[in-house]
Order: sequence, then structure tokens, then C-alpha cells
Amino acid sequence: MSDAGERRDRVHVRAPGKINLFLGVGPLDGDGYHALSTVFQAVSLYEDVIATPSDDFSLAVTGVADPSTVPLDDRNLAMRAAKVLAAATGHDGGVHLEIRKSVPVAGGMGGGSADAAAALVACNELWRTGLGHDRLHELGARLGADVPFALSGGTAVGTGRGDVLTPALARGRYEWVLIPDDEGLSTPAVYRAYDVVRAENGPAFYAGREEIDPFEVPPSFFQALLTGEPEELAGCLRNQLEAGSFRLRPELEETIDREVGGAVLAGIVSGSGPTIALLCEDAPTADRTAERLRARGRAALRAHGPVRGAHVISAAEQR
Ligand code: C5P
Repeated sequence: MSDAGERRDRVHVRAPGKINLFLGVGPLDGDGYHALSTVFQAVSLYEDVIATPSDDFSLAVTGVADPSTVPLDDRNLAMRAAKVLAAATGHDGGVHLEIRKSVPVAGGMGGGSADAAAALVACNELWRTGLGHDRLHELGARLGADVPFALSGGTAVGTGRGDVLTPALARGRYEWVLIPDDEGLSTPAVYRAYDVVRAENGPAFYAGREEIDPFEVPPSFFQALLTGEPEELAGCLRNQLEAGSFRLRPELEETIDREVGGAVLAGIVSGSGPTIALLCEDAPTADRTAERLRARGRAALRAHGPVRGAHVISAAEQR
């Protein structure tokens, strides 16, 4: 039960990061975006946004090693989300947003999008502006291609820029190890690098290993999701955008090749990267894999998916 219904002095919302289980990249459109065929899974690395009333708009961010990597002005997607919601609803007050980050910054896991989704839900609740899911989704899509999915969560197919969502039937729980990188990658830079690879190798190029149809998630993918078996899903993971991330950071491919094997079933770059997502057979394997990486001095995060999208959390759920 949420306590936010009674109290408007503080609203706490949690939104998940994501992994693209499948990502086919089509050609560049006239607005500088690529047509995508993607399958998202929301995973249990969360961004927490706490909204409190204020006359103006302000932001504080915790949970990042280097605070300078997160802008606190209008370049911040959560700040933009709050202002977009105020403009759309005619709300004339402001908000103070505290963002507690757990999703790697500029890591390809949609952390900034999760912040925006959480800020939309939090301000909608704090201000009692009463927008429904569809309207929030519409405002979210204006802020960034991954924001609608951070609102919805679960497992979903994304088309268009990745913002047109259809829920996917999925069973099971999947255990992941995430390997973040100290230095993020810029999403537009990765798409540009991918465009170069695409021009050299053709639109069906997939990381030099095989070809994929960038316009269609294959039926076998959905069959794998229905089995709920990690082994089945592992054989279907594809991220065509990886070619762009590998071009900018070749060591990512080396890390995946080194880490995958045995009960570490598959590895993939998450979205535009550089975070690597390893799909493991079960939770104990994933725990051991993360420990092994940390023992070697690498950062490693544990998560499972799918999990729900942006939602208000009650006082009881709060730490
Ligand atoms: O929508 P978002 O802000 O996440 O996108 C950041 C950038 O990533 C875009 O400006 C564009 O360069 C690139 N992008 C793209 N095609 C997509 C999504 C993003 O080229 N479908």
C-alpha cells in the first residue's frame, strides 16, 4: 500500500534500468533517429527519485562515484521531465528532486530514462495532476526513446524509436551479472559508429558472427521467452548496436568472449553500452561470477529481471 495518497509532502518513486535482449537497428530517419526492433527487459537495478514541494525546480544526486558525470540543470532528464509535466498540466509550483542512482551512468541501461520516468510519476503524484498512464507515456516519449519502457517495465517489444511498446509474454526469472565501465559511452556516438559499420558491412551485419533481420524480432525469440528457460533465451540474445560499441571500445568484445562459458550462458552489451550483461544459469552461478570478477578488481553488479516499471513505493518498502 502506498502512503503517498494521503501525504503530498514527499513522494518516493522507484524505476528500473533495462537490458535490450534483442536490438535490431534499421536505417537513420530524417530526424536523426534509427528505426528499432527491440525487446526490453527491466532489471532490478533501480533509480529512486524522491520529490518534495518547492517553489522552483532543483535537483540533488547521490550514488555516483563522480558527481560531475550527472548534470544538475536542464540537461538532466528528470529535471526536464518535471518541467514538461508542469507545462502540460498548467501546474505553477516547482519541485525538489533527490535522485539516488544505482544504474550505471551513461552505461546503456537507461538510467537517465529511469530518472525521467520516476520524476514524471513522482511529480504527477506530488502535484495531484492526475495524468493517466497513456498521457505519461506520451510525455515520456518526448523526453527520450527509452522513457516509456522505464514507465512500463516487465518485458516488452519496442518499435519506432523503441518508444512504441507492446508487452511481451515472458515466463521465468533471469539472473544477470552486469559489468559496468568506469567511463560511459555517448549513445549518439555509438549510433554514429554503428552507421559506419553498417555502411561497410550492410544492414544485416551482426558483430561479424552471423546476419540478423534488423526489422523483425524472430519468432524463435518469443518462443524462448515463453519457455522461461535461461538456456533458451541465451541462444537468442542479439544486439546489433554492439558493433558500434565494439568499434569504439574493442575490449568489450574481449571481455564477453573471456567471461562466457559453462553456466555463464551468454554475454551481450546492454543497449549502446559499455555495460556488459552476462546471463547466468541460476542465481548461485551469477553470485559466484560477480564475486570472481570483483576478486579480479572488476566492478560487477547483480540483478534479475523482469521487474515492474516506475512505481510509488510505500514507507514500509523504504530503507
Ligand atoms: O532518445 P534518446 O535521447 O535516448 O537518444 C539519444 C540519441 O541516440 C539520439 O539523439 C540519437 O542520436 C540516438 N538514437 C538513435 N535512434 C534511436 C534512439 C536513439 O539514433 N532509436
